[in-house]
Amino acid sequence: MGNGSDAEAGCSEDVRPLRPEERGWLSRRVSEDFGMPDVVRDGEWLRLEDCDAMRCGDGYATYLDDGKQLELVAIGARPAGQGIGTKLLKAVLGVARESGRCAVRLTTTNDNIAALAFYQRAGFRLCGLRPGAVDRARQLKPGLPLVAANGLPIRDELELVFRFEPDAE
Ligand SMILES: CC(C)(COP(=O)(O)OP(=O)(O)OC[C@H]1O[C@@H](n2cnc3c(N)ncnc32)[C@H](O)[C@@H]1OP(=O)(O)O)[C@@H](O)C(=O)NCCC(=O)NCCS
Repeated sequence: MGNGSDAEAGCSEDVRPLRPEERGWLSRRVSEDFGMPDVVRDGEWLRLEDCDAMRCGDGYATYLDDGKQLELVAIGARPAGQGIGTKLLKAVLGVARESGRCAVRLTTTNDNIAALAFYQRAGFRLCGLRPGAVDRARQLKPGLPLVAANGLPIRDELELVFRFEPDAE
C-alpha cells in the first residue's frame, strides 16, 4: 500500500462516517459503480440500507459488521488512482481493528483486475473462488453486465481476506 502525501493527494478531505442526509448521494454513487445500490454476493442480497459507510470526497466504502468480522461490501474512488481508495480501505481496516474484529472480508469479480491489484497491495489474500457465481447472481439481478469495460466476461466471484495479527502479549 502506498504511503505518504502523494498517495493521499487525491482527496483533500479526510475520511469520515457518512452523514444520514448523505444516504441519497451514496445510493447514486454505488449505483453508478455497481448498477444498483444493493449488491448480490454468493447468492445473497446485501442491502445498502443495512450497511455502515465512510466517505472521502466523492469516494465511499460500505461495510457490514457481524460482530466477528467486517465485510467490505462496496468501495468506489473518484478520481481513481489518486489514493482515495487506499484512504477509505485503511479507514475500514481501522474500524475493524478498533472494534476487535479478527478480519475484513470482501468479494470481487474475475474481471476486476484493478480491484484485485488494489486489494492485494493493501495486504488482502485470496481465500475463495466461486465459479459461476455472477452467472447465478444475474438471475436475481438481471441488469448485471455480461462483459466488463476491459472486455473480460464477468462470471466468477473471488473472496479476499485481511486477517489481523493477534496482539503480542
Ligand atoms: C478499485 C478502486 C476502489 C481503487 O481505488 P483507487 O483510489 O483508484 O486506488 P489507489 O489510488 O488508492 O491505489 C492503491 C494501490 O492500488 C494500485 N492500483 C489501483 N488501481 C490499479 C490498477 N488499475 N492496476 C494496478 N494497480 C492499481 C495502485 O497502484 C496503488 O498501489 P501503490 O499503493 O503500491 O501505489 C477504484 O479504482 C474504483 O473505484 N474502481 C471502481 C469501483 C470498483 O471496482 N470497486 C471495487 C469493487 S470490488
